[in-house]
Amino acid sequence: MVMQEKVVRPLCVGLDERSYEILVGRNLSSVIRRVVESLRESNRQVAILADEQLAILQPTFLAEAFGDCPKLELPSGETTKSLEKLGAVLDFLADTKLDRSACVFVVGGGVTGDLGGFAAASFLRGIDFIQIPSTLLAMVDSSVGGKTGINLSAGKNLVGAFHQPRAVFADLDLLTSLSTREFSAGMAEVIKYGLLGDRDLYQRLLRAETLTATSPDLGDVIRRCCENKARVVEGDERETDSRTGGRALLNLGHTFGHAIEAVAGYGDYLHGEAVAIGMVCALRLSEKLEFLDLGHSPDLEALLSRQGLPTVLRVPLALKSLLNAMHSDKKVKGGRLRFVVMDAIGVSRLAEDVPLSLVEDIWRTVGAS
Ligand code: GLY
Repeated sequence: MVMQEKVVRPLCVGLDERSYEILVGRNLSSVIRRVVESLRESNRQVAILADEQLAILQPTFLAEAFGDCPKLELPSGETTKSLEKLGAVLDFLADTKLDRSACVFVVGGGVTGDLGGFAAASFLRGIDFIQIPSTLLAMVDSSVGGKTGINLSAGKNLVGAFHQPRAVFADLDLLTSLSTREFSAGMAEVIKYGLLGDRDLYQRLLRAETLTATSPDLGDVIRRCCENKARVVEGDERETDSRTGGRALLNLGHTFGHAIEAVAGYGDYLHGEAVAIGMVCALRLSEKLEFLDLGHSPDLEALLSRQGLPTVLRVPLALKSLLNAMHSDKKVKGGRLRFVVMDAIGVSRLAEDVPLSLVEDIWRTVGAS
């Protein structure tokens, strides 16, 4: 039965000597424990960084996977991605007397993964780490691909490093601790993969029942997203491919979404919620620019709504502020706004020089004032 399946076929992120496997399955604590034991048998130290909330909700998982390994718990929430908390993590790794052969297991959502990964990238100039994502968003996006970092008061993710994990273990059972709202927010990133590069996945999501943490199909869908992400990362590990768009295409809906987060105040919208509205905008922009045939908006809106995601702003936000926020986004290159647009469902690319008046029109359609 799918619910008891340990591993839904491992997949590989092929990056030469930095290659690694992603395991998606249920009940993976014993698999992880074997990795911990084998590291220790090779005289390699192990330390755990875990999201504090997850530690409360999943104590058995942590005990089964890690036993008495030294562990530091980190508060949930974006403010944890700070210089101060980075210092606390580095002090913990130093106090634990890890040497360069050590391996850190980072267990949590995107915040824990980004901070923990950056600590691993910088401690002793880089040690190994393994990602154990506990949110849907982290499973399909942030735990794969080696982006790590923290925020500064000047903006999100302004300090960081590319540092690939040595493995990713996505245990679907951890998702049962997520609130419905957080699960939905992760679904925005799932839907994103369909729109940007996987028409079959998108069609499947349109046809499928609403996905939840216990859906039998979930492992396969997550694996498919990871496969999509792996192929993109293999082609453009450091997001330098401006010709085809490469890794930047993963930002479909994010130029609009980041602006919503910045103007509404971080916390009002979960990242995935802002990206959901952003994808509606990106699709409408693609239609307005006549890159994409008309008529796809209703399907996308219905899918997002079915998964509990917003398709318009909850309260109107000022157009001027949204445009300003777009221009200050760190993805802006040389002062020019760049959008991920679609030529068809599952076929995307970057577009620059989009008329500002068009962008304003699109914002108004989702409730900007
Ligand atoms: N989350 C976008 C990326 O990993 O490139």
